[in-house]
Amino acid sequence: MFEVTPFDAASDAAPLAALHAACFAAGWDAAAIAQLLSTQGSFAFHGKDGFVLARAAGGEAEILTLAVAPVARGRGLGRALLQAAINKAQAMGAQTMFLEVGADNPHALALYAGLGFAKVGTRKAYYSTASGGTDALVLRLSLPAKFA
Ligand SMILES: CC(C)(COP(=O)(O)OP(=O)(O)OC[C@H]1O[C@@H](n2cnc3c(N)ncnc32)[C@H](O)[C@@H]1OP(=O)(O)O)[C@@H](O)C(=O)NCCC(=O)NCCS
Repeated sequence: MFEVTPFDAASDAAPLAALHAACFAAGWDAAAIAQLLSTQGSFAFHGKDGFVLARAAGGEAEILTLAVAPVARGRGLGRALLQAAINKAQAMGAQTMFLEVGADNPHALALYAGLGFAKVGTRKAYYSTASGGTDALVLRLSLPAKFA
């Protein structure tokens, strides 16, 4: 079982930036993460080795990023982070959650499919690569209404 806790937007975002840089070729720096966290409806959850950043507003939610350090993968942390974000978005009144994922990212695609996300679109060559570009798949999850 992982300890996944809300990230206080007033905290130093440097540890999240370090995790992001370990997971993505184009890492976001602490200022960029802090900026995203300061926008209305944004929230994050983190564990020792990973974090999720999301936003919910107007009945819709979006996963902005999800990152688990390479050494900690395959043990359920990614799913725990995503589930925490889904629960929070539902509690904020979101009825739908969207995210974008590289078509060449089978581990993430398996994680999202396992939680019920389904493909609703494709953004051609959305991620730039040396070979020209990788498609982004747009995935959607319906969130049943949550009554507190
Ligand atoms: C995608 C990512 C967040 C998954 O995190 P994780 O902690 O390894 O995932 P979990 O251990 O919770 O695994 C959950 C599910 O994901 C899938 N999955 C994760 N790792 C996998 C692997 N190595 N092989 C196949 N499926 C895998 C499986 O469906 C798994 O469910 P299962 O354990 O019941 O088989 C992580 O690999 C990561 O940070 N990758 C780099 C950044 C990234 O791609 N982020 C998503 C961008 S949209």
